[in-house]
Amino acid sequence: MKDAAPQPIHLADYRPPSYLVEEVRLTFRLQPKGTRVLSTIRFRANPEGLEDGNLHLDGEGVRLISCSIDGAPLTAFDYLLTAEGLTVPAARLPEGAFTWEAEVEIDPEENTALEGLYTSNGMFCTQCEAEGFRKITFYPDRPDVMARFTVRIESDLPVLLSNGNPVASGAGWAEWHDPWPKPAYLFALVAGELVAHSDRFTTMSGREVALNIWVRPGDEGKCAYAMDALKRSMRWDEEVYGREYDLDVFNIVAVDDFNMGAMENKGLNIFNSKFVLATPETATDRDYDFIEGIVAHEYFHNWTGNRITCRDWFQLCLKEGLTVFRDQQFSADMRSAPVKRIEEVLQLRARQFREDAGPLAHNVRPDSYVEINNFYTATVYEKGAEVIGMLHRLVGADGYRAALDAYFSRHDGQACTIEDWLAVFEDVTGRDLSQFKRWYTQAGTPRVSARWARTGGTLKMTLTQELPATPGQPLKEPAVIPVALGLLAPDGTELLPETLVVLDGREAELDFDIAGMAERAGVAMPERVIPSLLRGFSAPVILDAPLSRADRLVLLAHDPDPFNRWEAGRSLMRETLLAMLTDGAAPDAALFEALATLLTTDTLDPAYRALALALPSEDDIAQAAHDAGMVPDPTAIHGVRRALQTAMAEALRPVLAALHDAMDPGPVYSPDAEQAAKRSLRNAALMLLARVEGPERAQARYDAATNMTDEMAAFAALLEAGDTQVAARFHDRWKGDRLVMDKWFMVQIAHAEPEQAVAVAQRLTDHPLFDWKNPNRFRSVIGGLTAGNPAGFHDPTGAGYRFLADWLLKVDAKNPQTAARMSTAYETWRRYDADRQELIAGELDRIAAAEGLSRDLGEMVSRIRGS
Ligand code: BES
Ligand code: ZN
Repeated sequence: MKDAAPQPIHLADYRPPSYLVEEVRLTFRLQPKGTRVLSTIRFRANPEGLEDGNLHLDGEGVRLISCSIDGAPLTAFDYLLTAEGLTVPAARLPEGAFTWEAEVEIDPEENTALEGLYTSNGMFCTQCEAEGFRKITFYPDRPDVMARFTVRIESDLPVLLSNGNPVASGAGWAEWHDPWPKPAYLFALVAGELVAHSDRFTTMSGREVALNIWVRPGDEGKCAYAMDALKRSMRWDEEVYGREYDLDVFNIVAVDDFNMGAMENKGLNIFNSKFVLATPETATDRDYDFIEGIVAHEYFHNWTGNRITCRDWFQLCLKEGLTVFRDQQFSADMRSAPVKRIEEVLQLRARQFREDAGPLAHNVRPDSYVEINNFYTATVYEKGAEVIGMLHRLVGADGYRAALDAYFSRHDGQACTIEDWLAVFEDVTGRDLSQFKRWYTQAGTPRVSARWARTGGTLKMTLTQELPATPGQPLKEPAVIPVALGLLAPDGTELLPETLVVLDGREAELDFDIAGMAERAGVAMPERVIPSLLRGFSAPVILDAPLSRADRLVLLAHDPDPFNRWEAGRSLMRETLLAMLTDGAAPDAALFEALATLLTTDTLDPAYRALALALPSEDDIAQAAHDAGMVPDPTAIHGVRRALQTAMAEALRPVLAALHDAMDPGPVYSPDAEQAAKRSLRNAALMLLARVEGPERAQARYDAATNMTDEMAAFAALLEAGDTQVAARFHDRWKGDRLVMDKWFMVQIAHAEPEQAVAVAQRLTDHPLFDWKNPNRFRSVIGGLTAGNPAGFHDPTGAGYRFLADWLLKVDAKNPQTAARMSTAYETWRRYDADRQELIAGELDRIAAAEGLSRDLGEMVSRIRGS
């Protein structure tokens, strides 16, 4: 018999807790097995409490040694102990305030789920968000309980860290005190043989902060970029948001075994080592870009997440959506804003639109969940950030800043909701946001259609919106959709500069006085007007606009909005690919000519030009085919995408060869945006040229590479050219470097021929360096197939589906979070043909029926499978 399905938790059931915590003292006697955790917790009755008055402490997998209240030991008759926690009935509790003390035992070494306290390469570390603290000791593990923590660590290891400021230390012990009240999910502890890359920062009010990045000995030379990113983040948050750091020290620790990217624990951020460690030889430009963005993200949480936290986990977007928006603003300031915007939208469409279009669609603020770890999604994060971007656009930069100032002063030290957040904007700007709030409470990607017609000197435009039904939400109300738009004449003259239209009903009619505009622009009235809609991607919607190929070519050549200029090229490519799929049509030369012009426009950022050259991904094409009423065939999609690349490479060969030679950034590597831009265009040219030239150029680049960006690009080009030696050469050079070897695993699968991809992945799982318990390595191999090689994953035999299911089941037994995240590879299954659907359904059912399935993976497969 399988256990009864775990019950969902509903937002509507939220109740303030009966007890609050005034103060916590923790002592850790660290041992790989049998770590003792002593806790002293001062509770007081919550006057606003609406729960049952019992003291409920969460606790999972912790062995209770002893406990007492106000010094009086409790016996097993005094409390109820279950697998989920411990309850002391109200009748046994003193009135008002009381002190709970407990001693428990846990086994960090056995903790393969990497949640709670665990060991990684001999070092102790923690991951408590969202509900990991309950695996450390008994505690009200919910974010609306905030407390001041004092922590004592006892261990022979030389470096002992926790949150806040160091208080005192001696041989074998250290004490930390965090003066800022925080929920338990922000608790952290690290102990190990670590070395620091140190620096300092003077805050805007002149306080000195010691900065340390702690790594394993040997890695201290790989921290300079992360440190630089940290200092720039600290300065930026002061300058742009007026936010100052609030402790004497800021520590970052790099860990090799980590489920996520990084975690914002107060004063002690813990990072997956791949988002800290970088040298030019081992990290790509993309890695540097990620390090900068993630260091900033976790730092920015200090105010948006830590000083102001979430009342409950349904409000996750309050901290994550806002902090993603903030890290995006930071990256746009540090690098090229248009390039960053395009990258954000690429990511949003690839992950969030995909999620919204399938069985996992949910609100930015979900109404219910079974396992909260399954809701750290693209919707909460990326759509959550887009919603704030829309708010920013609607109220303007000054209104936004005023609202944020008010948010920080009104809610500092509190655990808040989306209602609190929106109320601040309403109070500061005087706007009514009740309709805008639907962005938080309705799932699905709205479709905006634009239609227009000319009557004499007037252009009449109709905008309509439609919200698709999503699981559990058949009917929707109109959203508030900011549509930034402009109008162009066919020669590129801008008739109407960017204007913001807010579509808040199902339909809006707009009249544009073209005659007047032409007169003001000093041009003859054009015979045709080309709308440039949704500039800067002003709302996370799918736009349907009947622009002709000729219109799009005008936008690609002339749109002053860099996002829409890129978007025009993108949609031409998508259309071309769909035409190739349906009737084998040859690509149209006009597209190549337009690309040639753009590629040779030296005033354009090379990174932007590289983006213009990139084709839609295979997954993108599959979704576009599905939207057009076709049943996507992954093999055919792979084929036409390659064919278009080859045709492009042939048509643009001289341009690409010239760019390849011109975009050499010189011998001294720097990860800055300017150099990275040149490398991205150069390597995009290399990949295309390798299609039509033979492998010599890629071979020469591989041999000459002095940085990982170039080395990986040449490696990938050689793999696609069928080189059978390069993988061994790369392996021999880099077998001692974990992070580089993750790339080695991934790239071989992603660039394998689709018919061989599963076999290559299978062979690599037998490699001695394949360690499936390490989440990075596991994701490199499994993700290399599911995301890196979609035609291989969707192999018509079902071998890819079976391979994934086998590994999910194996990993689920040790690390449910990692298994659950990877299961989203199946989320698009309803797009495909009946045979493939049957094969995937079979695997989903096989997983669902497995003995001892985790709540994490169980919830995911049941939602993906649907009814
Ligand atoms: N708070 C999260 C880390 C986290 C995620 C903890 C899920 C527990 C469960 C952190 O701030 C975060 O968002 N990290 C991201 C990277 C970020 C740049 C978007 C991550 O780890 O992927
Ligand atoms: Zn975050």
